[in-house]
Parts: sequence; structure tokens; C-alpha cells
Amino acid sequence: MSSNDYSVLWLEEVDSTNNYLKEWLRQEPLEEGTTVVVDYQVRGRGQRGNGWSSEKGKNLLFSLLLYPKRIKVNEQFILSRIASLAVKRVLDRFTDDIRIKWPNDIYWKEKKIAGMLIENDLLRGEITRSVVGIGINVNQQSFPDELPNPASLWQITGMEHDRVKLLEVFLQEFFSLYGGLRERLWEGNEKLTEFDVGQTRSRDRVRGRHDSGGELDVEWIRWHEGQREAIYTAYMSSLYRKEGYHWYEDHNGRFQAAIQEVMPSGHLVLRTLDRGEVRCYAFKEVAYVNP
Ligand code: BTN
Repeated sequence: MSSNDYSVLWLEEVDSTNNYLKEWLRQEPLEEGTTVVVDYQVRGRGQRGNGWSSEKGKNLLFSLLLYPKRIKVNEQFILSRIASLAVKRVLDRFTDDIRIKWPNDIYWKEKKIAGMLIENDLLRGEITRSVVGIGINVNQQSFPDELPNPASLWQITGMEHDRVKLLEVFLQEFFSLYGGLRERLWEGNEKLTEFDVGQTRSRDRVRGRHDSGGELDVEWIRWHEGQREAIYTAYMSSLYRKEGYHWYEDHNGRFQAAIQEVMPSGHLVLRTLDRGEVRCYAFKEVAYVNP
């Protein structure tokens, strides 16, 4: 899949691009990388059953279809890491202040500029299909008061941005990170040459291995682990509040802690300030608190 090869459908209005893509899939088989973009969502969906509101024609609202290979349920957070990093890399072109707020909110300083809703289908403990829905606030100049802390690229840069170009950059960034997890790498077919799989090793080396039999071997496993590790490290170093102690709240109350790790499952591991206790949280079990 080259950078111009993504199958992108740009629509005027749907209820939610995640819903639209899933409904479309019920009607016909779709290729990995199929992307649905829309100018306006009537019922945009956010995390925790919330909505996602966005002014018509201003922002980037899209869903991307994936068929990941050999990602176990307890490692599924890798897709969140990749999608968050790709959004961050798009926005890094305009400002130095983009961070990923665990699990996958994209922040500019103390404000949210993008969010994502990833819906995975599972079979026998592995992800078979993923719909990655992303909303990036691009050209919206003001937001309804009820939104807690929104920001847009327009507010940061004072100018309009081309949504088509931003989407293109996103897809390039996404697939350069995701390449190592793709099915075609396992099949060892020629498509491999079209990906940038060379972040930790050269493309020819990986291809050569597959050309010589297409078998999973030690060399390949090492490369694959290296790719994952690079993604883990990039995610960790992009985290909001990654340094120092900050306030959090769980069902027992407020406490100060430092981020120790984000596990492959996506659990957040915090180390408390008072007793150095290590606590592990799933999404929704802990909240960031502003002092
Ligand atoms: C969140 O942070 O709450 C997640 C927001 C996800 C919004 C995007 S917009 C495109 C896609 N379609 C949806 O209905 N939701 C996601």
C-alpha cells in the first residue's frame, strides 16, 4: 500500500463514521485501509458512551479499517499507541506542545485537540478486525461552552488547514508504524516492498527473509519485537504528565503519583508519592485531577 493507495470515501453526512464503516462491512468485504471521512456526524460517538460534537465541514472525522495479525487481546493497546502517535506526528508539524493523555486523548497543553474510539472484534483471543475512529479539531474556531477543554489547530496556529492533506499525512504516519503488524508481512508477498518497515531494520533484509521461504523465523521475530519496542518507547515519551508527581483520583479518593508504565494491555501503572505503592488501573478506573 503506497501513500496514494488508501481507499478513502469522503461523505457529506453520516450518523457516525464508525457505524457507517461497520454497516458497510456487513454488506460487502472491504480492504484493510478503507477509510470513511465525513464533513458532519449527526451522532458522533466518543468514549464512555459520550457524544463527539464537531462543526460541519471544519474538522477531520474519520474511521479506518484494519485487519491486524496476531495481536492478542491483552496486547490490543498497541493499536491505540500507533493511532495516538500518528495523530501526534501530524500535529507535531505545527506545535511542540502535543502530548498523548492516557489512554489515547491528544492534548495541546491542557486542552484536548483530538480523540479516538477504537472498536475491535475478537476471535480466539486475538483481534480480527479493528475500526479506528478519529476526530481531530482542525478549523473550528469556537466550541460550545459545555465542552470541558477543547482546542483546535486553528486556535493554535491562527490559520485554516487543508483537511485532505492532514488526512494524507496521518495515513502515512499510521501505516509506517503499523506496517510491521500487517498480515502481508507474514505472507511475505511483494506488497512488503511498499511499506516503510525499516524503522529498526532495513526493508531489504526483512523482505529477503520472507523471499527465502516466508517462514516465521528468529530474525523476523527480533525485528517484530524491535518494532513494538520502538512504538512503546515513542508512546511513553509522548505521554502527558510523564514526568513528576501529579494528582489522580480512584474510587478511594485523591492521591499524588507518577506514571511508571503503560502495560501492553493498556493498563496505567502509577507509583504513589506517599508510600511508593504501585497501582494498576484499567481505563475509567482512575481520573487525572487538576490541583
Ligand atoms: C473521545 O475522545 O471521546 C473519542 C472521540 C472519537 C470521535 C471520532 S470522530 C470519527 C469517529 N466516529 C465517531 O462516531 N467517533 C469517532
